[in-house]
Amino acid sequence: MTQPEQEKTAEQILFDIRSENKLEISNILKKYELTYSELEISLKKIESWGYGITKDDDSLMFQSAPDALIDSEISYGLPTKTIGKNIIAFQAVPSTNDSALKLAEQNAIEGTIVVAEKQTNGKGRFGRHWHSVEKKGIYCSIILRPSFSTEFAPGLSLMTAVALADTFSEYTQAKVQIKWPNDILLNRKKTAGILTELSTEKNKINHIIVGVGININHIVDDFPDELSSIATSLYIESKTKVNRVKFLQRFLFHFENAYENYKTDRLKSMHAKTQTYSSLIDTEIQLLYGKKLISGKVVDINKDGALLLESDGVIHVINSGEVTIVKK
Ligand code: BTN
Repeated sequence: MTQPEQEKTAEQILFDIRSENKLEISNILKKYELTYSELEISLKKIESWGYGITKDDDSLMFQSAPDALIDSEISYGLPTKTIGKNIIAFQAVPSTNDSALKLAEQNAIEGTIVVAEKQTNGKGRFGRHWHSVEKKGIYCSIILRPSFSTEFAPGLSLMTAVALADTFSEYTQAKVQIKWPNDILLNRKKTAGILTELSTEKNKINHIIVGVGININHIVDDFPDELSSIATSLYIESKTKVNRVKFLQRFLFHFENAYENYKTDRLKSMHAKTQTYSSLIDTEIQLLYGKKLISGKVVDINKDGALLLESDGVIHVINSGEVTIVKK
């Protein structure tokens, strides 16, 4: 058997044991036309992926799955139709957004996700760095190929923020907020960020990469000094370790639903959520808008996801920019 054939057989055996919980060895040998020593090789492979399988005289039993961002784990029981149905998983990459961009240029299908256990050059907004601690967070980029025009691309960030906030809300009693347009806060500290990158041609979208960085099981010491007062993780705020694979599956589920709605009525059906999750409504902020700095009070978020900022008696409709909170 070649190496790829061995991998495939190991994956199929794993799937069978997992679905049945207990399988007779003689049945597996027959089904996959294996010798006993070939089966042992497959079991070693499965163990090397982090799965726990036990064996008695005639059966194999499924014991445990690793919390690892690998294809077999993410796809097992993933309840989506397109998002995450094609998974490219790495142990380490410079940036999952950069890998996804390359794959998109090579025609990867809509819904393809790129995940990594670690990023060596994770990218944040405004050219910043995204601190990507190995096996503690989720670093994931989703390839989209919508048919709507480019003007609707920026709204995908707020849409993704709503999907993330809905996912966090399933896991924690901590206060989950969106700092417009695309930071997720837990108890007022940042726990996830979104970087949306767009490729266009003649005002048509080729592809969009939606990258999310989510702080899941980080402890306080995982953050460098400059981040410790502004960043947090789900673990720090909820005191419980979370299975990253399950969290990612829930996020992909919420993301797919939100994206389906977005394609037909943009942010309309999510409008109430963008308001209730907002950390900015009724808050004094400074907004860097291109090269202009505007100070004012956020009075609302409109149905298109724009910030309504009152400054010197005038309401400004803001579609993008970087916000600094001045006071509540
Ligand atoms: C921000 O808050 O500035 C956005 C952070 C986005 C980070 C994610 S991690 C996965 C994906 N790959 C990247 O290089 N960046 C995004």
